[in-house]
Amino acid sequence: MTKFATRVENVSISGIREVFEAAGDEAINLGLGQPDFPTPAHARRAAVEAIESGQTDAYTSNKGTPQLREAIAAKYDRDYGIEVDPGNTIATSGGSEALHLALEAHVDPNQEVIFPDPGFVSYDALTRIAGGTPKPVSLRDDLTLDPAAVEDAITEETAAVIVNSPANPTGAVQSEADMREFARIADEHDVLCISDEVYEHIVFDGEHHSPLKFAETDNVVVVSACSKTYSMTGWRLGWLVGSGDRIERMLRVHQYVQACASAPAQFAAEAALTGPQEPVAEMVGSFEERRDVVVDGLEDAGLEVPTPSGAFYAMPKVPEGWCDEVLDRGVVVVPGEAFGSNGEGYARLSYATGMEELKEALEIIDNATAAVREGRSRTQGSP
Ligand SMILES: Cc1ncc(COP(=O)(O)O)c(C=O)c1O
Repeated sequence: MTKFATRVENVSISGIREVFEAAGDEAINLGLGQPDFPTPAHARRAAVEAIESGQTDAYTSNKGTPQLREAIAAKYDRDYGIEVDPGNTIATSGGSEALHLALEAHVDPNQEVIFPDPGFVSYDALTRIAGGTPKPVSLRDDLTLDPAAVEDAITEETAAVIVNSPANPTGAVQSEADMREFARIADEHDVLCISDEVYEHIVFDGEHHSPLKFAETDNVVVVSACSKTYSMTGWRLGWLVGSGDRIERMLRVHQYVQACASAPAQFAAEAALTGPQEPVAEMVGSFEERRDVVVDGLEDAGLEVPTPSGAFYAMPKVPEGWCDEVLDRGVVVVPGEAFGSNGEGYARLSYATGMEELKEALEIIDNATAAVREGRSRTQGSP
């Protein structure tokens, strides 16, 4: 008898943590996947008031409070003109749980799940945990996912395609035409499209489009969260939107693994979604300024980097030994291979860090890049 389940043995601990642990306390951290802004005050207050008035002492409905689900549904109408029935939503413990539920409810053992490579680390791991087989698909030169490449990868065994825009780790934003294509592919091949939209509001160029708007069948499930939009990663509050049937199947899993999302977080999320949106605009404006500084800095260092249109990441192509050299000089970045084998030769830089630190990091990166190119890197020859 084996001691551990094979599907878990085949999952490794995220490479991102290892990088943090290798860096000293003094390092400038461009590895973080969370905004460096406070949660909006009205959201924090709503949670405190709900706690103080005893509204958070009990489980909520498994799907989440009716008020939060109303707020989630109303958001889709307000932002995208998509009509969503509040009954067709589930509040989850972050986007992470939402992704897990979507895969658990739709993937049979050995069925395939297509996702971008490089892509968010959870897609491969959660596919394996669901017993499925990962089918990573490489990206275009501009680091967007090509619908034609996705369609080519579809087989009889394909259960789902995961689309992520704006994307982690690339910052790429898919066009409306691409999103229409993903919806068509889901319809025509009768596969589920899981659209991971956790960065939906952090877009600098163009607009966010959801395949939910374009699908003619119920083959799109949306995953989103308060985590990035409202700087609420610690609150653990996300959600799912899908057809009644799909929501009911995902609820079967949610009910037993989670019961309900944290009640205080649900009150905060309701306030975040229904309250003033200025804090989001301010944060996005600040990320855009930093994006410009980071892209200029990387280009000045001689690195090739597609201009990220959203999220808060940049993914330059880097020479061999670059990540070690940069880390050795006190800047934490995540090697591209942490996000899939096609990430090799790239690095992910998060600019959810103050402007002064960013500028300092870019100067170090400039020197490190020159050193690697000229063969005088400090880390060369080290074990
Ligand atoms: C693309 C993507 N999807 C989902 C998540 C999970 O978000 P949450 O913190 O809400 O679980 C993340 C977090 O980094 C992410 O980058």
